[in-house]
Amino acid sequence: MGLKECRRVQLPRLSDGRGSLSFVEGGEQIPFGIARIYYLYGVPEGVERGGHGHRELEQLIIAIYGSFEVVLDDGHARDSFLLERPDEGLYVRPMMWREVRDFSPGAVCLVLASMPYDEADYYREYDEFLSAARGES
Ligand code: TYD
Repeated sequence: MGLKECRRVQLPRLSDGRGSLSFVEGGEQIPFGIARIYYLYGVPEGVERGGHGHRELEQLIIAIYGSFEVVLDDGHARDSFLLERPDEGLYVRPMMWREVRDFSPGAVCLVLASMPYDEADYYREYDEFLSAARGES
């Protein structure tokens, strides 16, 4: 099942009296090369983002500031992950439906992605995603 391949990734953290530094290198902490980054910010209370799946895209999602919940669904089961640490990411494999919600005030959601933006890679309809994920189409 795809859900089991999604996992929290502990990122390196270098901390001293000057603060902390974390980093991600493609092919090291994550199993893909980084082709794009994007970030969500200024998300009002109660608003949900995501609500789609990807055919090929792999991602690492990091709560760079604040916290939010990521719900992942592989078409058979779903699980939710509270992200609240800048030194931890959530690896999301292809063919996962995701919803992102409960943003704390000022939260910033950083996403490292394996491919450039391509609308053709999206499942925007849950039913369509479900059929594909269950091998019905
Ligand atoms: P979308 O992936 O639907 O974000 P969310 O599900 O969090 O609301 O993207 C929202 C809009 O932004 C959509 O019109 C596509 C555009 N977009 C880009 O142009 N480039 C990108 O890298 C991303 C992620 C989105």
